[in-house]
Amino acid sequence: MGIKSLLPGTLGFGTAPLGNMFRSIPDEEAAATVEAAWDQGIRYFDTAPFYGAGLAELRLGEVLAGRPRDEFVLSTKVGRVILDALEDPTARDLGEKGGLFEHGRPNKMIDDYTADATLRSIEDSLTRLRTDRLDIVWVHDIAQDFHGDDWLAVYETARTGAFRVLQRLRDEGVIKAWGLGVNRVEPIELTLDLDEPRPDAFLLAGRYTLLDHDRSLQRLLPAATEQGVDMVVGGPYSSGILAGGRHFEYQEAPAEIVAKVERIKTLTAEHGVSIKAAALQFALAHPATAAVVPGATRPSRIAEDVAALAEDVPAAFWAALREEKLISADAPTA
Ligand SMILES: NC(=O)c1ccc[n+]([C@@H]2O[C@H](COP(=O)([O-])OP(=O)(O)OC[C@H]3O[C@@H](n4cnc5c(N)ncnc54)[C@H](OP(=O)(O)O)[C@@H]3O)[C@@H](O)[C@H]2O)c1
Repeated sequence: MGIKSLLPGTLGFGTAPLGNMFRSIPDEEAAATVEAAWDQGIRYFDTAPFYGAGLAELRLGEVLAGRPRDEFVLSTKVGRVILDALEDPTARDLGEKGGLFEHGRPNKMIDDYTADATLRSIEDSLTRLRTDRLDIVWVHDIAQDFHGDDWLAVYETARTGAFRVLQRLRDEGVIKAWGLGVNRVEPIELTLDLDEPRPDAFLLAGRYTLLDHDRSLQRLLPAATEQGVDMVVGGPYSSGILAGGRHFEYQEAPAEIVAKVERIKTLTAEHGVSIKAAALQFALAHPATAAVVPGATRPSRIAEDVAALAEDVPAAFWAALREEKLISADAPTA
């Protein structure tokens, strides 16, 4: 249980943007970004078949293929199978996240959380990633944001399909850990209530950030801590707005979020703290957090992330955020 001893550090690299999440990224720029992560000492990489219909896995695999496999930790996801057949990426139904990965590969993607599809997806990921093994496998997006009101039925398919396969692979030592990779707290809360199967960790994206953490603090994180199940925090910049970008929740940030970020930025300026340091160190301060995985498409971002982690964030800054009710009174801070 838990993955802290498995991970080579608390800063990983998330490859969703390398699947052309928001824009078409030249291959050289994508490769240079992964190279920069490696050169800066990052040794944990998170990816998924969904990220550009295999594009992020292919790009990550291309760079990592030349590195010693024992020196890095790799997580990918199951639940979406990428076919050879093509489709119009702009016509995909991605629920409230419509428009994502429009610039990715045009391969047809099908949602499938059954046992057979899980095994097939892993085989396909191994090929795209040019490796013979995965360390962590997350069951991807079994939540309302992608599956609407049918999400509980999808969850049930995954519980009796993907969950059991991954638990078996973990028990056999084929993978080292498994869990869910989701943007919502509900599927994690449900899973923490199950007796069997038991995941090692969860990748929770966007729900333990400076901008959104109240719900996770209530039930999910106390239960995870009690059960020794670790958290990887995805989307620590809320998809960009907390790092100087324009996106929040993978869409153009609404005015009230922009205004809240401006209030946070006023305090970061007053205390001489970078907003990236505030975002990453906030997520890591919870004892359940094993790592943060910010994403990026430009090599220069990585040095910023590494510097943000090393920055000294004064207690007075966290106190000021609390005072102005910008973070929960219950949120642990470093
Ligand atoms: N369901 C799931 O399992 C799930 C869901 C979401 C995320 N995740 C994981 O978490 C990782 C991180 O999430 P994320 O990549 O979606 O979002 P994020 O880490 O919150 O934000 C990434 C964005 O921040 C932008 N950024 C970084 N530094 C910047 C700067 N100095 N100025 C302006 N913009 C800046 C990057 O822009 P550039 O592209 O211009 O560098 C990138 O688009 C993902 O890659 C994935 O591995 C998992």
